[in-house]
Amino acid sequence: MSDSILGKGIDRVDARAKVTGAAQYAAEIAVANLAHAAIVSSPASTGQLSAIDTRAVERLPGLLRVLSFQDAPRLPGAKLQSNPNDRILQLLQDDLILYADQPIALVVADSHECAEEAAQLLSPRIVSHTPSVELASEISRAYAPKTAGPHGPTDSRRGDPDSALQGAAVRVDQTYETPTQNHNPMEMHAVTVVWQGSEHVTIYDTSQGIFGVRKKIAALFGIPVDNVRVISRYVGGGFGCKGSPWSHVALAVMAARVVGRGVRLGLRRSQMFSLVGFRPRTVQRVVLGADRAGKLLGIRHELTSETSRFDEFLEPSAVQTRMLYACPNVATTHRLVRLDIPTPTFMRAPGESSGTFALESCMDELSYELKLDPLELRLRNYAERDEQEDKPWSSKSLRECYRVAASRFGWEKRSKTVRSMRAGNALVGFGMATATYPARQSAASARARLRKDGSVLVQAGSQDIGTGTYTIMAQIAADALGIPVERVTFELGDTTLPETPVSGGSQTAASTGSAVRRAALELRHKVVTLALSDPTSALHGMRVDEVEVVDGVLQSRARRDKKDSYSELMARAKEPEIEVELHTPEKPERARYSCHSFGAPFVEVRVDEELGEVRVTRVVAAYAAGKILNAKTARSQLMGGIVWGIGFALLERTVRDPRSGRVVTRDLADYHLPVNADVPEIDVVLVDEQDPYVNDVGAKGIGEIGITGVTAAIANAVYHATGRRVRSLPITPDKLL
Ligand code: MOS
Repeated sequence: MSDSILGKGIDRVDARAKVTGAAQYAAEIAVANLAHAAIVSSPASTGQLSAIDTRAVERLPGLLRVLSFQDAPRLPGAKLQSNPNDRILQLLQDDLILYADQPIALVVADSHECAEEAAQLLSPRIVSHTPSVELASEISRAYAPKTAGPHGPTDSRRGDPDSALQGAAVRVDQTYETPTQNHNPMEMHAVTVVWQGSEHVTIYDTSQGIFGVRKKIAALFGIPVDNVRVISRYVGGGFGCKGSPWSHVALAVMAARVVGRGVRLGLRRSQMFSLVGFRPRTVQRVVLGADRAGKLLGIRHELTSETSRFDEFLEPSAVQTRMLYACPNVATTHRLVRLDIPTPTFMRAPGESSGTFALESCMDELSYELKLDPLELRLRNYAERDEQEDKPWSSKSLRECYRVAASRFGWEKRSKTVRSMRAGNALVGFGMATATYPARQSAASARARLRKDGSVLVQAGSQDIGTGTYTIMAQIAADALGIPVERVTFELGDTTLPETPVSGGSQTAASTGSAVRRAALELRHKVVTLALSDPTSALHGMRVDEVEVVDGVLQSRARRDKKDSYSELMARAKEPEIEVELHTPEKPERARYSCHSFGAPFVEVRVDEELGEVRVTRVVAAYAAGKILNAKTARSQLMGGIVWGIGFALLERTVRDPRSGRVVTRDLADYHLPVNADVPEIDVVLVDEQDPYVNDVGAKGIGEIGITGVTAAIANAVYHATGRRVRSLPITPDKLL
């Protein structure tokens, strides 16, 4: 048997196309007679638009149309939300202004430059009011939303947390805050739209969920779903903002219909801060009570977050607190405050990234109260099962993650007291935390086709948002078929291919992967059966279980010289190709288990006391996330999550001007992201884990867990270094001086 291709750290199969420029992104698709659109953004946060003065642009050469609420086509589905995970859009249907930079008009022109210039020159007349954009000033109006979205109920309670916390020998009660943050994928949102007649449209988008875009556009424009084709073959990063369609997509579709030409619309970087969602600000109170031995007796985690006036999105930051530690008395609540801001959305590990900052900071505070090592505190409260769901874990190797990461990091060298470790002028601190993220799976379909030359084409709608989907799907198919990975071509990113779920929630490997595996196994079975019934095959008359497939060769297990091959079989076959298409539902066994990935980041920081500057100097993090499908792409996914954790802890913050409601940090000079100089050596350890229940490929998903826990580990290390507990992110120098 040759080694399985599954798990090998092979290079990305799309790497060459990307570095040579052959990979075409949504804003690069060549279309004949293309027109260009630009969004006119509202300078005001609230109010009413009375008119748009177009006199300044009317004589601009190349201007085709200006659309506003006065003359934009009415869309039958404009107020519809097709599911709770997509947003209510602003599509020039009325004169209301709900947030700063909201689209209030659309310019269509022959050139991009003309469209942009006209968009700047238009003067909207607005009757505006003073906006309310500060969470703190509206917090008394917090309300309970109906659900925490896909994350279950808004509130949870087990046991009697009030009495337990009251009676606890040691108690910590603190409030933690995380700021508003914006997604900044390298590839900004862009779309190229071409109508075929007035009933069929093709949309080249940069999307994490092409089937969601198709559904939304069909509903908005009142045309059948099958008349909308969405293509998204390459995506330059997603992180949640590309998980659902935003206003600009529908506006481009509208513009293309109005001018009767293909239309391209790309957002400027500044528009990325208002038009495609964001991570909402959170205020989180955490109360932990324990006995003197460090056994948790009660936990309370109360979140308050922000949403828009007109739509609802909840950052479910307290959800992981329901299951992360063993504790009989736990209560969690989620509340929302409405503000004059756009609607927030999913942003890498929505909930767990901000939530673990609060919970894992508070655990660290409790460890000092107890004079107990922070790692030891977590081990004393290790959850052997999911106590909220009352289910066993499908698998959990967190203990091994703690052990491996602590030992590689050298955790035992940590001094017990704060401010006791130094390197030159800098204070040195060690911190750790627990990382966690759910292992999701959704139903998906896939197709596998054996071609005349013995190569295999595998197709699934899906998306590769930079995570390595093209590569791991080819590996899964090659492994299941018993052929070299070079003989597999995998296609994705087109709604004419079999339907798969959104590439969000770290579920693509599990969902689309299981579908690809099943289609490939079924294709192999079909081919083997064909060989057995073919009198001219050396395998004729054998049983299916007597045959194995290795490197494309079908051979008898007992007598290897008796063989056939995919290519020889196809050469003899009458059919030009053999095809299988299958729908793979969520694995039924999952219902009996609680399915999560776990990990443990350990961090060293150095703090310059005079400047208040924090440098993360070392990160060692171990993760157990089921089967690792490609060691190289997995490592870079986790590393990317950790880098974002560094940005979350030290740099990222969206600032709104309270007077105008506008985002003032609207470019990458003012909105700080980690650069290479901010990122140290990152040692990612993948802990081997077999999970037969979680899904057919056994992979738990690794796109999001990397960002969880890291912020707390950094804040905990800063406390260990300096004795300063920073409970409000980011940890900027002013908070340490
Ligand atoms: Mo992720 S926030 O589900 O793209």
